[in-house]
Amino acid sequence: MGTNPSQATVQNSPLERIKTIAEKMFADAKGSHSWEHTLRVFQLCERIGVKAGADMAVVLTAAYLHDIGRCYQDASNGRICHAEKGAELAAPLIEPLDLSKHQKENILHCIRSHRFRGRTPPRTIEARVLFDADKLDAIGAVGIARAFQFAGEVGARLHNSRSNIEDTRAYSEEDTGYREFRVKLSKIHERILTAEGKRLAADRHAYMCAFFDRFLAEHAGEL
Ligand SMILES: [Fe+2]
Ligand SMILES: [Fe+2]
Repeated sequence: MGTNPSQATVQNSPLERIKTIAEKMFADAKGSHSWEHTLRVFQLCERIGVKAGADMAVVLTAAYLHDIGRCYQDASNGRICHAEKGAELAAPLIEPLDLSKHQKENILHCIRSHRFRGRTPPRTIEARVLFDADKLDAIGAVGIARAFQFAGEVGARLHNSRSNIEDTRAYSEEDTGYREFRVKLSKIHERILTAEGKRLAADRHAYMCAFFDRFLAEHAGEL
């Protein structure tokens, strides 16, 4: 049975080829930073990007490539910045694409500026869309699930009601889902940049706050 022509076009489109190359770079990735995160970010970019009037060829290519430097950051214990490294690795991959020089530079800027604590702030609409999509995936119900998954990966406890959050360390037994929420996730909604991103972030933030209120109450035997 042959492949029908429209299917062949989709499978061989430049974006699909970028997707295939990018996915291979996640072969050894851990659960909380796996390829699935990139697929969720891609979907959010589709939604936020259209509403923001972004150049979708730029946004979607950058979405697939934004975390390809992750394994280098993990292997170097954080010395290498995965956003900077990702842009370096992406440059030769996007070179053959039928896009303008300006679009290619924008893709690299999107990748370089997507990080939470990055040195480069997102300057273009496309970079702001990717930044928001990436941050949104860290909050809400998915954010909670990822926080506990990450805690499991570093061998953390489910919760410690006796510890003072300010005195606990990352990557330790005390790096619990609740610690991640207090230290990082609860502040993310303040940094979102686009109108649609802000709307989604407010909803996800409220859900997360309600979840942890309930979690603490159940953990204390109050509910
Ligand atoms: Fe990232
Ligand atoms: Fe990401």
